Amino acid sequence: MKSKLFIGFIAMISIIILGACGGASEEDTDTSESDTTSEEQVTQDKEQGEINLYTGRHYDTDDQLYEEFTKETGIKVNVIKGKDDELIARLEREGEASEADLFITADAGRLHRAKSKDLLQSVDSDILAENIPEKYRDDDNTWFGLTKRARIIAYDKDRVRPEDIQSYEDLTKEAFKGKVLIRSSENVYNQSLVASFIVENGEEEAKKWAQGIVNNMAREPKGGDRDQAIAIVAGEGDVAVMNTYYLGLMLNSEEEEQVKAAEQLGVIFPNQDTTGTHVNISGIGLTASSKNKDNAIKFMEFLTTEDAQKLFSGANYEYPVNPSVEPADLLKSWGEFKEQDVELTELGENNEQAIKIMNEVGWK
Ligand code: FE2
Repeated sequence: MKSKLFIGFIAMISIIILGACGGASEEDTDTSESDTTSEEQVTQDKEQGEINLYTGRHYDTDDQLYEEFTKETGIKVNVIKGKDDELIARLEREGEASEADLFITADAGRLHRAKSKDLLQSVDSDILAENIPEKYRDDDNTWFGLTKRARIIAYDKDRVRPEDIQSYEDLTKEAFKGKVLIRSSENVYNQSLVASFIVENGEEEAKKWAQGIVNNMAREPKGGDRDQAIAIVAGEGDVAVMNTYYLGLMLNSEEEEQVKAAEQLGVIFPNQDTTGTHVNISGIGLTASSKNKDNAIKFMEFLTTEDAQKLFSGANYEYPVNPSVEPADLLKSWGEFKEQDVELTELGENNEQAIKIMNEVGWK
């Protein structure tokens, strides 16, 4: 009898501890009244445990997804939004004490950075393995792609004939001297683009390309991808390198200036006859410090399901990473295209080299 009471006491203490580690808020963790100590009760408590998400994405559609997940599972998602690199720094600073269970960010190069700082842990999930092609997840399963984006060439429909520009290499031709708009080398999108050329063509060729881009720049790099598109319409240059979803967002913007600019632009998926167009992802990883792994993995899996993928891509004009989900109509209207045959883990592995090359050629 005495020992039974003791076991009951220990079990109750465990529930209280589990509740606290689950990150559940005080209102939700009503352990004082639990008089059952069965495993079922413990599982239930854990299932109700909230998860904490650090995300560099800041789109309304994502919020809708989190709500949908909570509706389906009863698991609350606490979202902390921030700039991608600052969130990595924060995870580093917080270490094991971090409350974060999950980290979402754009670009495989950045996910690799988080992995190499030991901020992520490996996840073994059949659902993730089934829904995400191998190419779009880490070899060690520390990160998984959620959406894809293509890095395309936008051009002014009046001033440029699309047949004159079929590849990334064409941007370095004499004919485009002073006409190329592209953001700075500090941004991971261009670092990954150069990294992809290192993988495809070797360092020497990648450097030649980067030098050619610097030679042809319309201006010193400034602003984001969208600013390059606007600069085309303002007449500062004729062609710009940008991610597809920015065009989608501009075309569907409430600001007339954005819509007008985007309508003036044509889209080229470069290198269709050769190595294919550069495709990158935004993706998710389970943090090394996660206190609520089970629920966090459920959330990761949810984001790769058909419904979530549709919502994810539908309103933000990204391509679904799950191949069984069709892209949004606008993306379909741009047509199918050949992607680079590059494992995205290789982008991260070549990131440092890419930065070095860009510095050497004076890409600001
Ligand atoms: Fe972006």
